[in-house]
Amino acid sequence: MAGLAHASGTAGIFNAIVNLASKGDNIVSARNLYGGSYTQFNDLLPALGIEVRFVDSQDPANFAAAADARTRAFFVETVSNPALEVADLDAIGAHAAESGVPLIVDNTFATPYLNQPLSHGADVVVHSLTKMARRARHGHRRGGHRLRTLRLGGWQAPALRPARHLLPRPALGT
Ligand SMILES: Cc1ncc(COP(=O)(O)O)c(C=O)c1O
Repeated sequence: MAGLAHASGTAGIFNAIVNLASKGDNIVSARNLYGGSYTQFNDLLPALGIEVRFVDSQDPANFAAAADARTRAFFVETVSNPALEVADLDAIGAHAAESGVPLIVDNTFATPYLNQPLSHGADVVVHSLTKMARRARHGHRRGGHRLRTLRLGGWQAPALRPARHLLPRPALGT
């Protein structure tokens, strides 16, 4: 497992996605999301050429049904903010594995104390630390972090590229 800190949860989500998807690709996302994430997905990612296909996450099969060869990830909030839909992570994770794409889970609302999505089929987990960092009230400290399993580097599906931060970086001699 590897972790990465970001300046905000929103930055963590953005980085998780642009490390996997680029112009012409798409992701499949639950339609009930935190408003800032919805704006990012509905307005900002399409402006970068990344399509977001919104589905009703209460039926996990909807994710696989919306996927195609250019799908790079599935995205869901464990407990959606503010609609409070609870995602069946094990089922969505199974569809992600069958479709050959990683499952990104925003676990902010559940918190890592109550739920660990990496044990339930997630490949990448994002938390907005703004919500729960010690002594922080909402919005008084900002932060986000992102966890991922090492499985992410080992996808075998031919349609999938490895995550961008695992690719060679010629400028750094790697
Ligand atoms: C579920 C969820 N994800 C992400 C965010 C965004 O986090 P941040 O404000 O740290 O960018 C929020 C903020 O309210 C949230 O509720």
